[in-house]
Amino acid sequence: MKFFIDTANLDQIKEAQALGILDGVTTNPSLMAKEGITGKENIINHYKTICNIVDGDVSAEVIATDFEGMVREGEALAKLDSQIVVKLPMIADGIKACKYFSDKGIKTNVTLVFSAGQALLAAKAGATYVSPFIGRLDDVSTDGLSLISEIRLIYDNYGYETGILAASVRHTMHIIDCAKIGADVMTGPLSAIKGLLKHPLTDIGLAKFLEDYKKGN
Ligand code: G3P
Repeated sequence: MKFFIDTANLDQIKEAQALGILDGVTTNPSLMAKEGITGKENIINHYKTICNIVDGDVSAEVIATDFEGMVREGEALAKLDSQIVVKLPMIADGIKACKYFSDKGIKTNVTLVFSAGQALLAAKAGATYVSPFIGRLDDVSTDGLSLISEIRLIYDNYGYETGILAASVRHTMHIIDCAKIGADVMTGPLSAIKGLLKHPLTDIGLAKFLEDYKKGN
C-alpha cells in the first residue's frame, strides 16, 4: 500500500519523506488555508516546493466547478511538474474533466467520494485515483471502511485500474484496516503514520537490550 501524507505543512512533509516511506502528498484548499497559503501565485509556488521535496505524486485541486474552468486550471497545474495529479471534485463536470484528462494521459484524483456509485463513475472516467473520505463518513455514523471494501469488490470485479486512495484517514487503525481491505493508497496525517511505529514491548525490549549490553561492557 502506498503512503501519501495529507497536508500542506512543509515540515511534516519533510519529516515523512525523511522516514523513507512516503509515496506522495495530497492537498486540498482547506489544508492550504490552514498553512496560511492563499492567493493563486502562492498556492502554485507551494505545489512546486512540495514537488521538490517528495519523489511521488502530488495532488493539486482545481477550484473551478465548471468543465471549461477545470480543464483550464488542471492543464496549468499539470504543466508545473510531472508529479502533479489534477484533483477534481466528484460532480458531473468533474467526471467530464476526468475523462478529458485521462484521454490526454494526465493523472487525476477524483475527490469528495462518499458512495460506491460515485467511485464506479470515477473509474469509468479513467481516474488515476478515487478518494473515498472514510473519516467524514465515520463522522456521520456511516462506516467509512465498508465503502473501501465495496469499491475494492467493484473494481476487482471489472479490473478497473483506478487506484483506491483511502482519504480522510484520521488515525493509525484506519491505516491498518485499509491495508487489510486492500486499498491501493492511504492518505493521512503524519500522526497516524507515526502511530504505526509505536509498541510498548518494542520500547521495553530495547531498554532491556541496552541495559544488558551495559552490564557486560
Ligand atoms: O484527504 C481528504 C482529507 O483532506 C479530508 O480529511 O480529516 O478533513 O476529513 P478530513
